[in-house]
Amino acid sequence: MHYHAPVTDKVFWIGTNDRKTERFENYLPLPQGVAYNAYLINDEKTCIIDTVEFGTANLFIEKIEGILKGKNLDYAVVNHMEPDHSGALGDLLKFYPETKIVGNVLTLRMIKAFIHDFDDSRFITVKEGDTLDLGHHKLTFAMIPMVHWPESMVTYDTTDKILFSNDAFGSFGTLDGGIFDDELNFNFYEDEMRRYYANIVGKYGAQVTNAINKLGGLEIKYICPSHGILWRRDVPKVIQHFLNWATFTPEEEGVVIAYGTMYGTTAKMANMIARALSWHGIKNIKVYDVSKTDHSFIISDIWKYKGLIIGCAAHNNDLYSPMQSLLHKLQNYGLKNRYVGIFGNMMWSGGGVKGIKAFTDALPGLEVLGDAVESKGEPTKEDQEKLENIAKLMAEKIISER
Ligand code: FEO
Repeated sequence: MHYHAPVTDKVFWIGTNDRKTERFENYLPLPQGVAYNAYLINDEKTCIIDTVEFGTANLFIEKIEGILKGKNLDYAVVNHMEPDHSGALGDLLKFYPETKIVGNVLTLRMIKAFIHDFDDSRFITVKEGDTLDLGHHKLTFAMIPMVHWPESMVTYDTTDKILFSNDAFGSFGTLDGGIFDDELNFNFYEDEMRRYYANIVGKYGAQVTNAINKLGGLEIKYICPSHGILWRRDVPKVIQHFLNWATFTPEEEGVVIAYGTMYGTTAKMANMIARALSWHGIKNIKVYDVSKTDHSFIISDIWKYKGLIIGCAAHNNDLYSPMQSLLHKLQNYGLKNRYVGIFGNMMWSGGGVKGIKAFTDALPGLEVLGDAVESKGEPTKEDQEKLENIAKLMAEKIISER
């Protein structure tokens, strides 16, 4: 029995599940693993869409062989050259010396950057709207630059109405048995899908929105992304999720409190704000120590909720470094459409609160509520009242939008 799974009559999922790699792109934890999705169309002409990460190449070629049963592989479309999808391309070129590689003009440059002895005569250049005729199936292509690299494109099967969507609509998490949205429990994937979006393409919201608008005119019966769940029952649902994330639209009412503390006083202040938020009627409150929780999880919840309260100790007249790296990433992503509260601990010189203010000053889409609270060591009674005031203002703003 083979592991491949049919998408439609002649189209197969030939992806691989990776439960071994600790960190995606060598920095994002993978507690639920990741799937590298690839597809094979077994028509008069045979064609794969993308390959997989290098470490799973053997299984990938075994799957292709299991379906083709000695037939030649005519084409390999490269929607994206990031190595999680192109890592097995080198092996594929050797195993199938007749196969033509299909991509756009930027794809070719990327291939040559990764595979120096690549033979240009094996490459077929396509541009927006071009067609690749496989017999019954006819493929066409659309460019989606920066979702998630400059050469990124999608492939659309005009016969079965399948959008091979590349990183768009992707998710962390392996495909454990089921591959389609109606074969598995989306609740197991939702947080990992948001964490994938926010951390991988979070910076490119405008480009994601452009891509969704561009593809909006297509009749789409299946979305087959390059990671995670394949969609056929809830196509509009996954499109709406990605549109919301791309436009920084919060999913539900709630507040993230992220703090950086060295000796515990800033943590104490965070807990005081959390209690006060609860008194004022907020139920979804997530409190994170930025030195402990991997930032990708905190960023995912920042995408989920409208409220963000940031607290930071001073360290060498500056932000405490774990907070510095979180704020740097959020600034790089252009975070917007959030209410923000600020607090921290100055000890003798300050630096933490100053650093948070520099962060909010750089992002005009953030609305800072109330005055920043900056204690000197243990928060005084007056500090505590000010902390409660931040919580009150935050709760009022959020509840007024119910
Ligand atoms: Fe899944 Fe941008 O590669």
